[in-house]
Amino acid sequence: MGEARIVGLPAETKDRERRVALTASAVASVVDRGHRVLVQTGAGDGAGFGDDAYKEAGAEIVGSAADAWAAEVVVKVKEPQAAEYDHFRADLTLFTYLHLAAEPELTTALVESGVRSYAYETLTDGHGLPLLAPMSEVAGRAAAIIGAERLSAAEGGSGTLLGGAAGVPPAKTVVIGLGVAGTMAARGLRGLDAHVTGVDIDLERLWRHHLDGTVDATQISEPAALAAHVREADLVVGAALVPGARAPVVVTEAMVASMRPGSVVVDLAIDQGGCIETARPTSLSEPTYVEHGVLHYCVTNVPGQFPRTASAALSAAVAPRLLRLLDDPDHPALEGALNVADGVVVHPAVATTFPHLPSRG
Ligand SMILES: NC(=O)c1ccc[n+]([C@@H]2O[C@H](COP(=O)([O-])OP(=O)(O)OC[C@H]3O[C@@H](n4cnc5c(N)ncnc54)[C@H](O)[C@@H]3O)[C@@H](O)[C@H]2O)c1
Repeated sequence: MGEARIVGLPAETKDRERRVALTASAVASVVDRGHRVLVQTGAGDGAGFGDDAYKEAGAEIVGSAADAWAAEVVVKVKEPQAAEYDHFRADLTLFTYLHLAAEPELTTALVESGVRSYAYETLTDGHGLPLLAPMSEVAGRAAAIIGAERLSAAEGGSGTLLGGAAGVPPAKTVVIGLGVAGTMAARGLRGLDAHVTGVDIDLERLWRHHLDGTVDATQISEPAALAAHVREADLVVGAALVPGARAPVVVTEAMVASMRPGSVVVDLAIDQGGCIETARPTSLSEPTYVEHGVLHYCVTNVPGQFPRTASAALSAAVAPRLLRLLDDPDHPALEGALNVADGVVVHPAVATTFPHLPSRG
């Protein structure tokens, strides 16, 4: 067992965010390893974990965000909000989603304060992104439900039911990026009997999904061919990702403008800047806006509205890596996660996005 450390679990502050990064049982596993855990009072309420559950797990309940942020290692869900930057300091380690490519001010604040900053979304195990996957799974499933709902006339959509009816063809949907989020969105949409075209740059992925029936049709991600699909689509879900980098703009403004009025786009990739050109970040309080007659849903914390499922899924993935981090900040199980350390950008894709900031190498 390594040195005993102090871990802080502050309450989330992003608009309507109700997740918590560690469940009470995950906290128990950290305490069992000899560490102290400071939980801000009420941090788990939204996800169904009251202070008593954390106390029983061996945590200490602290009264304020500042008390939780005073710990050596802070574990969170969403990227710190501007009001939280005051807690940054050089001897702090932060383990959370950061999405720095879409957060220039946060990146600068982390560089200037010297926080050792690990991002969930860039941690790799050599195959995939194990700390992004659980939330991409939740967000992808949610995107199908959200898209279906927003197409209703009551929500300002075109009044198209995804599955169609006898004598009426199903709605056409296009999913951009058939990774974790895109695959789950496609499964949900097919479950509602929509017609789904899956788009990716990875032929191997398209081949697999073509064979296993996740989608009705596949399309390689090339602008001219894609434009024809988007023009006909009732719903487009954006889920393209280049890890750490700004999302590639796959659906252009002209493509969006060609869609039927009342059609819907849900851009999950908005947390990395968006893969639909007309997408700009929205909140759970004000999730949509209309541009070119098309309803845009671009919420950056979609899983925040399913906090029970999402917190349990996130915590299961985070807890074992947190234990590694507490024992050894350079543990191989954290590969790719370190984004900023000692006042410089460490992750190559983030460094490329912000060439004006000091970087390693
Ligand atoms: N908005 C939210 O609340 C929310 C929640 C969870 C995840 N996300 C985001 O969803 C996005 C997808 O995450 P994921 O875990 O599914 O990633 P992933 O790595 O599993 O999949 C990304 C896919 O995009 C494909 N891709 C890359 N460039 C492309 C291009 N030019 N055209 C088409 N496809 C392309 C890749 O080949 C890959 O198949 C990320 O930005 C992630 O942060 C958002």
